[in-house]
Amino acid sequence: MCGIVGYHGTETASPLLATGLQNLEYRGYDSAGIALVDSDLTVYKRSGEVESLLEVLPESSTQQRGIGHTRWSTHGPPTDENAHPHTDEDGRVAVVHNGIIENYEALRAELSDHTFTSDTDTEVVPHLIEEELESGATPREAVEAAVARLEGTFALVIAIAGVEELFAIRQDSPLVIGHGETGTFLGSDVTAFLEHTREVTYLDDGELAVISGAGVELYRDGESVEVTTEQLTWEADAAEKGGYEHYMRKEIHEQPRALRQTLSGRYDLDSGTVDVEIDLPREYLRSIEEIQIVACGTSNYAGRYAAELFESLADVRTTVEIASEYEFSGGRDPWRTLVVAVTQSGETADTLSAIRKAIRAGARTLAVTNTLGSTVTREVDDSVFIRAGPEIGVAATKTFASQVATLALLAVYVGRERGALSSNRARSVLQSLRSLPGAVQQVLDREDAVHEVATAYADSEAFFFIGRKYGRPVALEGALKLKEISYDHAEGFAAGELKHGPLALVTAETPVLAVLTDGSAATETLNNVKEVQARSAPVIGAVSGDVGESYLDVTWEVPDIGMFEPLVTNVYWQLFAYHVADEKGRSIDKPRNLAKSVTVE
Ligand code: AGP
Repeated sequence: MCGIVGYHGTETASPLLATGLQNLEYRGYDSAGIALVDSDLTVYKRSGEVESLLEVLPESSTQQRGIGHTRWSTHGPPTDENAHPHTDEDGRVAVVHNGIIENYEALRAELSDHTFTSDTDTEVVPHLIEEELESGATPREAVEAAVARLEGTFALVIAIAGVEELFAIRQDSPLVIGHGETGTFLGSDVTAFLEHTREVTYLDDGELAVISGAGVELYRDGESVEVTTEQLTWEADAAEKGGYEHYMRKEIHEQPRALRQTLSGRYDLDSGTVDVEIDLPREYLRSIEEIQIVACGTSNYAGRYAAELFESLADVRTTVEIASEYEFSGGRDPWRTLVVAVTQSGETADTLSAIRKAIRAGARTLAVTNTLGSTVTREVDDSVFIRAGPEIGVAATKTFASQVATLALLAVYVGRERGALSSNRARSVLQSLRSLPGAVQQVLDREDAVHEVATAYADSEAFFFIGRKYGRPVALEGALKLKEISYDHAEGFAAGELKHGPLALVTAETPVLAVLTDGSAATETLNNVKEVQARSAPVIGAVSGDVGESYLDVTWEVPDIGMFEPLVTNVYWQLFAYHVADEKGRSIDKPRNLAKSVTVE
């Protein structure tokens, strides 16, 4: 997720763009840049936070229109060259972009006579526009023709030297227009310009906005459409949270979009194949003896989910280690052990320490992370990115789902390369993955019902989460989420383990939350539900199909999407934890004693 700004008006553009980028830094902050435009185009861009860019901006400038961008890298590390805006060779067309252009490699191949200076997907856009302009198209025609060739998700803002208008397009990635007194603003969200105006127009998918001194014109498929505006009542801080009271709740609700971004362009349903932008040689993958996953906290639970997937889909022994406890134990040939670090920040000291042990031992290493340019990516052999966008809340939510989805793609990739996974079975797994965003949205739409249950049980003495198979890591994650933001005692168990001790803790005051879906051995788990029910414990069940609902005090339906239903269940657990903590007035985004990235051992 990146931040986009634009301005066209009667004031000097540079300071307005710079402030807009500072307002959007929470959306991405590994590089930033602006382009100022009049008869010429002047571009300033730097890796690092917006502060680094401000150091190179001119003290004074005269241009009254321009565009800007702060980046959360998905393609290419955070360098000056990869920072936006990107331009064509002649430096006459500048583009800023938020999203993923899935067919950029094919387009680059078609533009082989052009000189590219970055690793990004975005850079194809100015070159496409340049070609259209050279063939005699008007600026709007050139923009429309270039955009028509793009596949994927994008919000684009374009400036062209000597052309009075700015152009803005939205396709699956947010873009909003601010109608100010001194001119027109553009932003990925209203935070970019809220101090200047509250009169806004949200672009819809497929709409092209043409911004000029005369105001705003909207087009769809070449036809003019009406410009409708609305008056905002949000405060700036609320706007950063998209109107949500806490980043955590915003990020819980971002999961459908984050998952679409995670999966975008990475699988082909027809062939049952996967592409996660790494090239592990087939003969290597067929030779590996073991996969060892090292991670902490939520990422460790994502790793446990993945271990079930690797063993089931890729037929490779997979172990999961708590990173702070890890010692490398490979076979005769360490290279035949693939050690995978799962870490959304890429900076967790325990995980870095663990992966360095594996590197010293001679194992092959891979990182699954949310953060390009992070320390872990600079030390492992390969990195795969989960593309969830910045996660501000200390409690991991959308990154857990995107980690599991990314690891699932990796398991399919490894399984196919190892000849352990048929194309039919791969297609079935990918079909279930593709259904994930929609299934998560269905759970999010039931938040009010979850809120009621959270209020009813908020004062319980303790909470137990139980599950089997893919439901077990979800039980562990559900308990972690609740305890880290509500400060209540919560524990997650393999459902079958309760009777071997923890059942002594179960009373009428200890709700039990059970995963009873596909992929969680629901029938066996139901036996454990009956055990706790016999001790008068209230049972909240996340169920799919007709699982013994008569034993449940609360039933939450999970959409029938197959093996990833336990992952969908976790969204119920996230909403439950959020509302229990909110009921208690906890500091939800910054829970006591915790940090978003634990960079000490
Ligand atoms: C989870 O809600 C916590 N924020 C914590 O357990 C976190 O998952 C853990 O510290 C690992 O962080 P990482 O993914 O950035 O390595």
